[in-house]
Amino acid sequence: MAAKKRIAVVPGDGIGQEVIPQAVRVIEATRAPLELVHFDWGAERYLRDGVTVPADAFSMLGRDFDAILVGAIGDPRVPSNIHAKEILLGMRFKMDLYANVRPVRLLDASLCPLKNVEPRDVDFVVLRENTEGVYVDVGGCFKQGTPDEVAVQEDVNTRKGVERIIRYAFECCKNHAKVDGSPRNRVLMADKSNVMTYAHGLWQRVFREVSAEYPQIQAQHMYVDALCLQMVRDPRSLDVIVTNNMFGDIITDLAAALQGGLGMAASGNIHPGKTSMFEPVHGSAPPIAGKNIANPFGSILTAAMMLDHLGLSAEAVRIEKAVLEAVRQTKTTQDVGGALGTREAAEWIIDFVGRT
Ligand code: NAD
Ligand code: IPM
Ligand code: MN
Repeated sequence: MAAKKRIAVVPGDGIGQEVIPQAVRVIEATRAPLELVHFDWGAERYLRDGVTVPADAFSMLGRDFDAILVGAIGDPRVPSNIHAKEILLGMRFKMDLYANVRPVRLLDASLCPLKNVEPRDVDFVVLRENTEGVYVDVGGCFKQGTPDEVAVQEDVNTRKGVERIIRYAFECCKNHAKVDGSPRNRVLMADKSNVMTYAHGLWQRVFREVSAEYPQIQAQHMYVDALCLQMVRDPRSLDVIVTNNMFGDIITDLAAALQGGLGMAASGNIHPGKTSMFEPVHGSAPPIAGKNIANPFGSILTAAMMLDHLGLSAEAVRIEKAVLEAVRQTKTTQDVGGALGTREAAEWIIDFVGRT
């Protein structure tokens, strides 16, 4: 029997506490050889003992685990959001998970807010740079609390960081066909190089250099504002998008809307060859937490993405098929038109996966 893959599970805050246990039940239903270890990192733990993540957590995760499954971090009782910075951004930065891979796939036409759009029309991937940009926490305040106060937040872009995510995007384009089997042949880089001439001038130069190595792939560019328009007006035109950390964050909430909402969107934080982390795109959604109404499908699809990454692709496909069938039969939560609760929607998936 294959060696068990070790998964660290961090449900986190709010609806993370509801959707991740369901995603865990789904992966257990596949009977994949896994060993799951739960960690209680999140607001509750931080408020109790002041610990966001233990000191050696990131080296421990990299050493002892094959992957990490995270729910969401964020709680109104921690207004500084320090625990999210240290847990979530800590994993992304300190484990150097440079590629935030956010697939955008419409499972059923009924889920898309756009008119006359079929599932095959929305099937693209956003590659978000995940270790730099304005997220690096470089900056400061001066004369805070006075009428003369100044706030500076730096946008850090390195050649190494920009180059590796752009290359990842071209490799992703080359290696991952669309769900209908047709090849992807376009990589679109989005920036604001018309304004951020230094930082995004670097993105422009590196994009030109790397794209020259992939003559069979069409290299396209759009300013990120124009891309937002394009995502709504003609999502069919998109194959692979690559962009910086903050723009990637923003456009993937918009992209989630094309798939039926934040409850449907999955993501992976990947460094090839290293322990990678998988999380739904949504946050902790405090207003709906604890009500058994959060959509668990984003987490369940995220778990499938994690299994696929670990080489358990048959198990991943079984989960994806179950979610597709649940959506077709409206065995879903209210946000995507169904009448089921979080647990009941997951139960339907578990039953389907158990039978396939
Ligand atoms: P959010 O994603 O939590 O919620 C945005 C909207 O989407 C809300 O209307 C919410 O009800 C809805 N929604 C989100 N997930 C849903 C689901 N699974 N099913 C049904 N509806 C869902 O974003 P927010 O309100 O901006 O942020 C709330 C908290 O989460 C903040 O503390 C924020 O920093 C944090 N956050 C964390 C992550 C993460 O850990 N990866 C991601 C985004 C936001
Ligand atoms: C996301 C979230 C995070 C981000 C927050 C919670 C730090 O919005 O993963 O999309 O901005 O990256
Ligand atoms: Mn976000």
